[in-house]
Amino acid sequence: MSSNLVDRHQKVYAPVMAWDSDLEIVSAQGSRVTDVEGESFLDFTSGISVINAGHNHPAIVAAARDQLERFWHAGGTVRYDSLVTAAEKIVAVAPPSIERMFFMNSGSEAVEASMKMARKVTGRQGIMVFRGAFHGRTMGAVSYGTSNAKYRRGYHPLLPSVFVTPFPHPYRWGMSEQEATDHALRELDLKLKHEVMPDELAAFLVEPVQGEGGYYPAPARLLERLRELADRHGILLVFDEVQTGFGRTGVWFASEHYGVDPDVIVLGKAIANGLPLSGVGARAAITDAWPAGSHGTTFGGNPVACAAAAATIDVLAELIPATAALSEQAFSQFRELQSRHATIGDVRGLGLMIGVELVRPGGNDPDPEAFPFLARYAREHGLLILDCGPDANVIRFVPPLCVTPEEMTEAIDIIDAGLGEYERR
Ligand SMILES: Cc1ncc(COP(=O)(O)O)c(C=O)c1O
Repeated sequence: MSSNLVDRHQKVYAPVMAWDSDLEIVSAQGSRVTDVEGESFLDFTSGISVINAGHNHPAIVAAARDQLERFWHAGGTVRYDSLVTAAEKIVAVAPPSIERMFFMNSGSEAVEASMKMARKVTGRQGIMVFRGAFHGRTMGAVSYGTSNAKYRRGYHPLLPSVFVTPFPHPYRWGMSEQEATDHALRELDLKLKHEVMPDELAAFLVEPVQGEGGYYPAPARLLERLRELADRHGILLVFDEVQTGFGRTGVWFASEHYGVDPDVIVLGKAIANGLPLSGVGARAAITDAWPAGSHGTTFGGNPVACAAAAATIDVLAELIPATAALSEQAFSQFRELQSRHATIGDVRGLGLMIGVELVRPGGNDPDPEAFPFLARYAREHGLLILDCGPDANVIRFVPPLCVTPEEMTEAIDIIDAGLGEYERR
C-alpha cells in the first residue's frame, strides 16, 4: 500500500464512493493482481464480477489495442464494424428471444434505457420490481432498487409508479424455498389486486439471481409466474443480467437455468471484460417500436469497448464449459467448511456466483463483524474478497472464470483459516 497515493486520492477525490481497500495495484494478470510492492493477490472480486475472462487476457488486449490504434470514437456519426460484430456475437449467445442490441456505458444507464423503452413501447407507466434488488445508482435505477435503504436515503422523491414486491429470501425468512416462494407469489397477486392493475404495468424488472441484495437465486416458480403474467397482460419481462451475465452463473445468461425467455435483457459488467460497455437486448418487435431518435448516447458502443466485447465472447466460449466443475468444487468445499464453522449459515448461488452468509452461531442473525474481519485476514494472506447483502455479512464469492482448481482451493483455505481465527477470538 502506498499511503502517499491514499493521501493524494483523498485530497482530490470525492469520498462518496466507499473504496473497498487501500491496496494500490500496478498490474494484473488472470486471477491475480500485483501491488506496488510486488506482492501478488488472488482477485476473487473480479472487480465486482467484471473480469470474467481474467485480468488482461492477451486476446482481448490485442483486439482492443488493434481498434485503439485505428480509431477510438465515433459518437453515432459514422458506422463501424466492431459495434456490429459485438452485437452479432452477443445476440448469437443470448436467449432466443433476444434479436437486437443497443449499447451504452454502464449498467445503470442500460437499466434506465430498458425502462424508458418499456414505457414508450407499451404506453404504460407502472414498473414492478423486487425487494432486495439492485439496479444501479442513477435516479431511475435507485427508484427500482431496494437492496439497501441507505442507497435511497436523502434522494426522495424517487420515481412514481414503481411497485415493490417481495423476492424470496428463504434463509433470511427462516423458510424453506417452497414456503418462501409461496409467500412471494401470494404477495405478488395481492399487489396486482390492491395496488396496480396488470394492464397498467409496462414491465417486470428482475434479477434472475439477486446480486448486491445477497446472492439469492430466483426460484424457478417465480420467473415462470412472471412469464405467464407478462404473456397474459402484455407486460414486458425484463431480466437484469448485468451481474449474472457472460458466464458468471455457469451458462451465458442465468435465464438459461430456468428455461424462461425474457422479452428484454439488460447487460453490463463483464460484457467487455472491464472496458466500459453495457447494453439492452430485446425482441425485434420491441426495439423496432422504440422510435428512432427517442433515445441515444455519445459514448455508448465505443469502438474499443466493442472490439473488446467481441473478443471477450470468444474467450468466454472456451471458459464457460469448465465452470461447472469449478462451481461444484467451490460448493462442496464451502459446504464442508459450513459443517465445521458455526459462522457459516448458508451457502447459495449458481455457477461461480456464490454467496456464503456469515451469521451469529446458533441462529440466522447476520453477523456484521465477521466479514470485515475475514476480508482483512484474507487480504493479509493474499486474497481479495467482497461482501454483499443489506447487512454486509455475505461473502460475494466471484472468482474469474479462468481460475484454476488449485487457486480455488488456495482461496477457500484462506477463508477457512480466517473464519477459524475469527471464531477463536
Ligand atoms: C444487477 C445490477 N444491475 C445494475 C447495476 C449497475 O451497474 P453500473 O454500476 O455499471 O451502473 C449493477 C451493479 O452492480 C448490478 O449488479
